[in-house]
Amino acid sequence: MIDKDRLAPTGTSERSLLDSIDLARLPRHVAIIMDGNGRWAKQRGWPRVAGHRAGIESVREAVETCARLELDALTLYAFSVENWKRPRFEIVTLMSLLKEYLNKELANLLKNDIRFRVVGRMNELDASVQKELAKGLAATSSCRGLAFNIALNYGGRTEIVDACRSLASDVAVGRLSPEQIDEETLGSRLFTAGLPDPDLLIRTSGEMRVSNFLLWQIAYSEIWVTPTLWPDFRKIHLFEAILAFQKRERRYGGVIDGGRAEDSGESGEAAG
Ligand code: FPP
Repeated sequence: MIDKDRLAPTGTSERSLLDSIDLARLPRHVAIIMDGNGRWAKQRGWPRVAGHRAGIESVREAVETCARLELDALTLYAFSVENWKRPRFEIVTLMSLLKEYLNKELANLLKNDIRFRVVGRMNELDASVQKELAKGLAATSSCRGLAFNIALNYGGRTEIVDACRSLASDVAVGRLSPEQIDEETLGSRLFTAGLPDPDLLIRTSGEMRVSNFLLWQIAYSEIWVTPTLWPDFRKIHLFEAILAFQKRERRYGGVIDGGRAEDSGESGEAAG
């Protein structure tokens, strides 16, 4: 049972937004491209890593809010396969922030029944990072509340390539026939296996790109972009995103209400 008072006290602007949200039609899975940490720091004349550090508070609030809204899953894009091109100091700082976050937050995740999971090639990360991640994975493995996924060393194309390789090796040894491969079989080889696809994809800092994030899984996600930089992202922005999501008409390529989309002349968006 969602407790609105725990999410936002009465009389606040967060609460009035929350009151406009239909709690029976929440997205099941929210995915977020956390962007703008560097710009946030630059605006203050600080080093880029100060933006990443400030972004941790936004991570904490997003996780807590999604758990209190009783969503099934939240996936945060923390480090892409392309991010290895960043300066060494920035990479090292990001990895230590992650370790610090897990260390500090583990008790909280457990208390809130949050299951933590890594989306990405974890085995290519530094041993000390892998150790901390493994600790979090093991400790929360029996939690049944929010599935909190951190995309780390993640690339959408790499993920699809890995899934194809795994299917191909099953075909090569005769465990699977090519005809048995369908969207479900491929989906079951992705890092997000077992989770619903994101209904809502949020990107902060205004860029209109998907940046190789969950390419397979976002086929029908609603995309919401905010100019807010990630370190400034708070629950009020999440509520705004959910409200915007609830105003969209999801057609999955079909038509709604026995052809209303066609009748209203919207058929130009033929594949949408
Ligand atoms: C993008 O901002 C942000 C990242 C690449 C990293 C996000 C990481 C965190 C918020 C901290 C660690 C995460 C967790 C889950 C504990 P950018 O640096 O690309 O910003 P810019 O586009 O303004 O330069």
